[in-house]
Amino acid sequence: MKNGTAIAILCCLLVLAGCNRPKTSPAPQATAHGAALVEVSGGKQVAQAGMELDQPVVVQVNDAQNNAVTGAAVVFRGPAGVSFNPASGLTDSSGQLSTIVTLGGVAGRYVIRATTTDAGGKNVELKLDEIALGYQQTLGRELNRQYCSRCHNPESTRERVSNYDNLTTKPHAFTEGDALNKMSDADLAAIISHGGPALNQSPEMPSFGYTLAKSDIQALISYIRAVADPPYHSAGVVYAKK
Ligand code: HEC
Repeated sequence: MKNGTAIAILCCLLVLAGCNRPKTSPAPQATAHGAALVEVSGGKQVAQAGMELDQPVVVQVNDAQNNAVTGAAVVFRGPAGVSFNPASGLTDSSGQLSTIVTLGGVAGRYVIRATTTDAGGKNVELKLDEIALGYQQTLGRELNRQYCSRCHNPESTRERVSNYDNLTTKPHAFTEGDALNKMSDADLAAIISHGGPALNQSPEMPSFGYTLAKSDIQALISYIRAVADPPYHSAGVVYAKK
């Protein structure tokens, strides 16, 4: 009995000590439990390694009837180097919890996990992929913004009106791995340098061989490889460890 009390006190102290440790957030006390965890937004974002993602990751806890659950506890976890603000919390009145994610310093794909527990105490997990770009890939992303996205990205932004709808032959978004993974690096370099006709494709794809340096074209290719979905597998791609 005495021993039991001593151990209980020790446990309390350890828990308290745990609270003070940086980066370990106290597990929030759930007031409700859901049956499912779904992504609202924030998956498949691309950022420079070590940087914050532009958009928060937002997840939602639902019950078995697909109604949002308020007060369910959600914990976020990621590979080494990834941080969340907050790392855990309770779902709000719309059943949602939002976190700001900073990716690790190593370029690669990061699998982020959100977990909640159902009424039976079983873990329900949701996985999201995020992409961290290395230096060359980040340069490629900038060049893409400057020279390519007006045609290759069908969506317009505040800064840029997309030209996509005006094109007779529709180019692929660089995330479309199904199409772009089939092309070799040499083919990518050829079509970027010499334009569509180099690969018997539409002349609406201009040639950039005079505008861009070889190293710029390499940077674009490494960016295209990095953002491919499904992923492009080749030697030299660093996958963030689980
Ligand atoms: C003026 C519009 C336009 C711009 C700007 C443009 N492209 Fe294209 N691109 C096209 C079109 C149209 C095709 C489709 C050609 C076809 O399928 O016949 C294409 C095709 C491609 C392809 C072959 C895969 C695919 O999408 O079908 C690659 C790779 C490519 N472009 C890379 C680039 C890169 C890199 C840049 C920027 C440096 C760029 N493009 C800028 C219009 C453009």
